[in-house]
Order: sequence, then C-alpha cells, then structure tokens
Amino acid sequence: MRVLGIETTCDETAAAIVRAGPDGKGEILADEVVSQIAEHAAYGGVVPEIAARAHVEHLDELVARALAKAGLRLADLDGVAAAAGPGLIGGVMVGLTMGKGLALASGKPFIAVNHLEAHALTARLTDGLEFPYLLLLASGGHTQLIGVLGVGEYRRLGTTLDDAIGEAFDKVAKMLGLPYPGGPQVEKQAAQGDPQRFEFPRPMLRRPNADFSLSGLKTAVRIEVDKLRRPNRTDIQDICASFQAAIVDVVIDRARMALRLFREQSGAPRGLVVAGGVAANGPLRAALARFAVESGLRLSLPPLNLCTDNGAMIAWAGIERLRLGLTDGMDFAPRPRWPLDPGAERVNNGKA
Ligand code: KG4
Ligand code: ZN
Repeated sequence: MRVLGIETTCDETAAAIVRAGPDGKGEILADEVVSQIAEHAAYGGVVPEIAARAHVEHLDELVARALAKAGLRLADLDGVAAAAGPGLIGGVMVGLTMGKGLALASGKPFIAVNHLEAHALTARLTDGLEFPYLLLLASGGHTQLIGVLGVGEYRRLGTTLDDAIGEAFDKVAKMLGLPYPGGPQVEKQAAQGDPQRFEFPRPMLRRPNADFSLSGLKTAVRIEVDKLRRPNRTDIQDICASFQAAIVDVVIDRARMALRLFREQSGAPRGLVVAGGVAANGPLRAALARFAVESGLRLSLPPLNLCTDNGAMIAWAGIERLRLGLTDGMDFAPRPRWPLDPGAERVNNGKA
C-alpha cells in the first residue's frame, strides 16, 4: 500500500510518499519539505497570509518531486491523503484542494487527515509501536498529553490553558532579543547558564489533572527581564537556563499526572511518544528518557524531521485509515479547529 501525503497546515509545505512495510512499520519512499521560516522570521511568528501564498507557490513542485524520487506515477498510488486541519485555514485549503484534485484525477481514494492524529501515529511509522500509548505533543501551536488507544481513538488527558510550550520558548526568546524561532536559541543560551539563578514558578505543579498553564511563567520571565533593563550575556544565559529548567519540571510533572490518569482510565500504556518541534530540546529529551525508564515505559522519540511538521506523517495516517476503510468524500471541508478528543473540548481553550 502506497499513499501520498500533503501537509500545509502551518509554515511547512510538505509532500511525501510512504509504503506500508511488511513489519507493520512504514517505509518512506520520498519526503519533500520546504520550510518558510525565513519568510516569517522578520515578523517574529507565522503570518497566515504569507504562509498560504507560499504553500500555493511550492506545493505542485513538491508533489512532482516526491513522485519522481519515489519513481512512481499517480496511477501507482493506493490513495491520496491531505491534512484537513487543524491549522491556518488558508494553508489548509491549499493542501486539501490539491489532495482532492489529485485523488479525483487519478481515481484513487481520498483521505482527509487530522494533523494531530498524524503526529500521534508517527511512532507506529518509525517504530511499529503498538497501541495503547501516551503521547506528549509539544510544538509552537499545540501542547497536549493524549492517550492513544487506537486509530481514531484518543483521550485528551491534558492540554494548555494558554500558551503552547514552543510558543513560550519563542516569546521568551523575543523578550531577550534572540531570533525566531526561539526554542533552539533559548536551548543554546541555556547550555551556558545557571538554572538556579532565577526562581521561576512551576505552574500547575501537582494539580490533579494533566493540564498546562504557561502564561504565569512567561510573565515571571518578563518581570526579571524588565528588572535587568539591559540584560548582558550572562543574564540572558541564566534566564534561559532557569526558564528551561522550569519548563522541564512542569513537563515531567504533567506527564506523570497524565500517566496516572491513563492507568486509571485505560490500563497500562505500552510506551511514551514525544512529538512536535519542542521534542528537539536536549534537556527535555533527557528528562523524558529518565521518566520513561522510571515508569517502565518504552520511549519513542521519532527523528527530528518526523517530529516537526512533515508529509510522511500525513501519508502514514492515510495508510492507517485506508487500511480500516476510512476514506473521505470530495465534500470534506477544511477545519481550522479539529480536536482529537471532542469530548474533552473546553470553552476556555483556544488550542484545538
Ligand atoms: O512542530 P514545529 O516545528 O512547528 C509547529 O509549531 O507546528 O514546532 C516549532 C516549535 C517552535 O515554537 C520552536 O521554538 C520550538 O518548536 N522548538 C524548540 C526547540 N526546537 C524547536 N523549543 C525548545 N527547544 C528546542 N530545541
Ligand atoms: Zn504539527
């Protein structure tokens, strides 16, 4: 089974072709991606209109390149999958329309993929991980702890009440005059800094749910930066180190709580999966690895290019759904919001 996957929900334009391998894992035949970081850097964040235009400009070329690299024609595919949300609506429309058009033209089944589901299933593409497992999804737009019980079966155990973790890294970087995207910059500065110099709060610590709240931490950083007026190099390094240490503590505490909820509700998970750009953070990875060992969980950290937004995860989610006969019609509408676990939706939570 070979499926083309298209991803355009944020600032990465991507097309990939994945084949279901005999071992239950996936084999990536082509994985093309164009990042728009440079186009958005001047604005300190993703500009939806610029993103949508860039998707239009790059997508046909990327699909053609993916097919060429895989040595396939459209007719050789078993299906076409496109991310249909959640995300920036202009971009989602570009990828979804392209996916439908290709499916229609080739007479192949079409699969509308939930971008979050694609992140959630990536560990099965790379490691063949069996259900159920606990997922930490941490990117610039999402921060969720999810019980992944099966394809289409998700329990949201925790989410952020305000900022996403990546967003908090980006905002702290901005306060300190570090370039966008801020996460890698903060990590680099933190490596030279003293994590104990500033006592930043660890919001939500030990709360009996697995939710996050990061705006108080962000404000605490803001207050210190303001106090310093013009932070010198050491100040910047120490703030980054202290902020990152607070984030790591919060993530591990929230993951521990999510694991407890998971066990109460659904039994023992087989593993812990981490996805999203923040999974690149070294100290966080190390802390999660310790947590996994201590909790008796197999840790699955997909390689970095599959943690951040990519086409292969969309293609793989397409394969998982196609195998179950879950295909979609040409009338599938783009979804700016599309929670994995609609039952857990909250009124005060802006992040799908
Ligand atoms: O998944 P991703 O590439 O894009 C989406 O947000 O969809 O995640 C990007 C986010 C940014 O906020 C970025 O600052 C953060 O991930 N990030 C990091 C690191 N690398 C990327 N945060 C902390 N440490 C890092 N090394
Ligand atoms: Zn993503």
